[in-house]
This record gives sequence, structure tokens and C-alpha cells, in this order.
Amino acid sequence: MTDRPYVIDQMISAKSIAARIEELARAISTEFAGTDKLVVVGLLRGSFVFIADLVRELDLPVEVDFLEASSYGDGMESSREVRILKDLRGKIEGRDVLVVEDIVDTGHTLSHVTRFLETRKPARLRTIALLDKPARREVDFKATWTGFAIPDEFVVGYGIDFAQRNRNLPYIGKVRFAAPA
Ligand code: IMP
Ligand code: MG
Repeated sequence: MTDRPYVIDQMISAKSIAARIEELARAISTEFAGTDKLVVVGLLRGSFVFIADLVRELDLPVEVDFLEASSYGDGMESSREVRILKDLRGKIEGRDVLVVEDIVDTGHTLSHVTRFLETRKPARLRTIALLDKPARREVDFKATWTGFAIPDEFVVGYGIDFAQRNRNLPYIGKVRFAAPA
């Protein structure tokens, strides 16, 4: 399936992403103003570009940690059953925590991850996702902040992959399969 040829149509430009991240960073810096340390938790691997740009806009003392949850594998559909594949290195009890995700789709991943982290009694736990596909939601989950609401399209770029490809595109594009010959 992933061998089927496809093209990528730009959906959100690098410039729009950068402008939106500035706004989001201001909101986050306001929310956590005065924190002694914000632990910014990136969900591997899709959030790696977003977290890199986001933390550089934050006007706060931050620590960065990573968590990996099971993903789509090579397909385009959520597995729904979420497992933690790689845990945090640091402790979050009593700390302010911001979980950074690339996309909220069905909502299973972030809903599971936030429940998992809440058991460790962080002081404040907030979530941010660059993209939101509200039409695809299967569980009642709302991120504290989202960058862009998008239609039900499969997207790549800016850290987000299709079967591990296209993460290095500087913009967000949608995958369009070429018509069969
Ligand atoms: P959820 O558990 O269904 O909300 O899925 C979230 C995860 O699915 C995200 O972290 C992404 O890794 C992946 N995902 C959802 N939509 C897309 C997409 O359009 N392109 C690539 N990955 C996606
Ligand atoms: Mg993911």
C-alpha cells in the first residue's frame, strides 16, 4: 500500500506554522508564567520538529523529555490500543508539564498519555497539538491548545510521516494518491 505512488499538496506553509507557533508560545508562556521549571514532553516521533521550534519561542525555564507511544505502524489507521513504548527519563511529580503532540486524530493517544501521566501527580498538565482533526474524534478529548484544525486528510511533513517518509518537509502537506494508470 505504501508503495502506491502519491503526491503531496501543500496545506500549511512553513511561514504560517512559524507565525502560529509564536502565538501559541505566548499563550503557553502566559499560562505558566512564574513556573520554576516546565517539563516539555514530546511524543516521539512526530512531534520532534514542532517541539524544537516551540521551545525556542517559550519565555520560561524548560526541561525537555520524550515519551513514545505505539503508533500507526505503516498504515493510515489508528490502532486504538495505545501502549507506552518509551517512558520519560525524568520525574514529573509536582512539576508543570506540557505534552506536545503532532496531531490529535481519534484522540486515543493523547487521552491515554494524559491519563498515564496524571497518575504521577504533576502540578499542572497541559497538552498542545499542532494539528487537530475534529471530524475523526472517537474519544472525548480536547487538547489545551491546538495550532490548526484541518479536514479529514492524511498529512505529512514538519515531523509527521507516512510510513516513516516525508518527516523532513518544512511544511504540512496532504497525501494524494495518483489515479491508477
Ligand atoms: P490518535 O490516537 O488517533 O489521535 O492518533 C494520533 C497519532 O496518529 C498522531 O500522533 C500521529 O502520529 C498519527 N496520525 C494521525 N493522523 C495522521 C496523519 O494525517 N498523518 C500522519 N500521522 C497521523
Ligand atoms: Mg504520533
